[in-house]
Amino acid sequence: MQIDINNLCFAYMHKLVINNLSLSLNTGDFLVIRGKNGSGKSTLVKCLLGINPVKSGMIFFNHEDIVNFKAWTSIGYVPQKFEDFNYEYPITIKEFLSVSRLKRTKESDVLRLLDKMGILEIQNDNINSLSGGQLQRVFIVRAMLNNPKLLILDEPTASIDKKNVLYFRETVNQLHSEGVTVILISHDESMANLNYTHILSMSSDFSFTFQSRKNAELTPGVNE
Ligand SMILES: Nc1ncnc2c1ncn2[C@@H]1O[C@H](COP(=O)(O)OP(=O)(O)OP(=O)(O)O)[C@@H](O)[C@H]1O
Ligand SMILES: [Mg+2]
Repeated sequence: MQIDINNLCFAYMHKLVINNLSLSLNTGDFLVIRGKNGSGKSTLVKCLLGINPVKSGMIFFNHEDIVNFKAWTSIGYVPQKFEDFNYEYPITIKEFLSVSRLKRTKESDVLRLLDKMGILEIQNDNINSLSGGQLQRVFIVRAMLNNPKLLILDEPTASIDKKNVLYFRETVNQLHSEGVTVILISHDESMANLNYTHILSMSSDFSFTFQSRKNAELTPGVNE
């Protein structure tokens, strides 16, 4: 998915968080967003997802203004926070995922993803009984379910153990190699095992640096 962000500004009430941010990604690019707590990383992806309505600046998906964008099911999203998650009824993981599964996706694909993320054996557990890390992995499977063209991941390293972070990153790399455009927020600042093509470094003073991987590797301190 081609993505163009032009002069984006975003504020919560009177608190400015994003100031005049512009960047472009081509189909198949893999962007890592880095920056300290509160620098606006989650806010930016929520603008891309239409969760935060954009009032100043423009965002285009495949040259179409997101105001008119319809193909939201072609975007997979894993949010950062799950503390407040509680499904209305005590359904199983498998049932929860079947609600999100579009007709074109086979059940065997769901099982393959559950296996890949190490949660196949708990597929019949109640969704409301899971630990934070397990729940996060269910949401990763959900984001990958319907052959997304764009994956937006507010990376879950805080509540997932090292081994599963590695599986997660391998799966993301795999999808990227199949042509999926990826935007991944990396909270732990570690870039290990990620086949990214671009980096966006955000600062709390609203400044940002957007670079291709090649240029970033020539800039000391940006890609340590
Ligand atoms: N819904 C909201 N209402 C008001 N202010 C908000 C809201 N969400 C975030 N903020 C504020 O906007 C700023 C950016 O927050 P954001 O969550 O985008 O940062 P972040 O870079 O994702 O941080 P972290 O690394 O902790 O996830 C912070 O100062 C935060 O307090
Ligand atoms: Mg965040």
